[in-house]
Amino acid sequence: MSIDNTKIVDLNIKKEKRILDFSDFQKQNIKFDIDKLQEAYNQIVNIKKFDDGGGVTHFGAISLTQIPGDPDSIKGSKARGVYWTKPDKTGIEVSRDIKVNESQYSEFIKDYENTYFKEVYDVLSSKYKLGRIRILLKEPRSTLSWHRDPEPRLHIPIITNPGCLMVIENVAKHMPADGSVWVTNNTKYHNAFNGGEENRIHLVACVLDYKFN
Ligand SMILES: [Fe+2]
Repeated sequence: MSIDNTKIVDLNIKKEKRILDFSDFQKQNIKFDIDKLQEAYNQIVNIKKFDDGGGVTHFGAISLTQIPGDPDSIKGSKARGVYWTKPDKTGIEVSRDIKVNESQYSEFIKDYENTYFKEVYDVLSSKYKLGRIRILLKEPRSTLSWHRDPEPRLHIPIITNPGCLMVIENVAKHMPADGSVWVTNNTKYHNAFNGGEENRIHLVACVLDYKFN
C-alpha cells in the first residue's frame, strides 16, 4: 500500500522535540506481589475510613505511618501537606496547606501490622529514607491541582485503570498496577487524574533521599 504524502501534516517539529523524555518517572528495581497488595488494601478499608485532607474533593488518604504516639499527625491537612500551585490567570505561585516534618513519621500504625503493607514498609524503609507513607484515593473522573511538592514521591499502584495518568510538566504516563515501584519527580509541576469509572488507589511515600538529575 502506498502512502499518500499529501495527507501527511508536517508539524515542522524538530525530531528531538518529538521524543518524550520519561526520566521524571523512574521505575525501581523492586517488585511486590500485586495480589497481596490488593488484599492488604481490602483489609484496611474494612477497618479505616479515608481522610479527606481537610475537605479536598475526590481525594482520600489513609496514612500507614505517624509521628510516634501522635495520631493527630495524620489527620486533616497533615494528611495532605504543603504544596505550591498556580491557581489563576496571573500564573503567580502560592503555597497551600502546612509544612509537615516528614522525617518524624517513623511509627508504622499498629492496626495494619498484620497486613502485607508492613512487609512492604520494611522493605522500602531499608532502601530509602522515607517520610509519610499513605494509601491515596483518586476518585473517578477527577483531577488534582496543578502543583509541585517539596520532595519526590514513591508510587506503588494498587488499583488503577487505563484512564489514570500522572502528568509531570508536559509528559504523561500511566503506571500499571502490577507490583512495580516508581519514583516520580514531584518537585516539578505535576498532576494526576483518573479518567476512569473506578477508584484509583496508590501507595505513595515521600522520599527524602532521592535525587533526580
Ligand atoms: Fe503531588
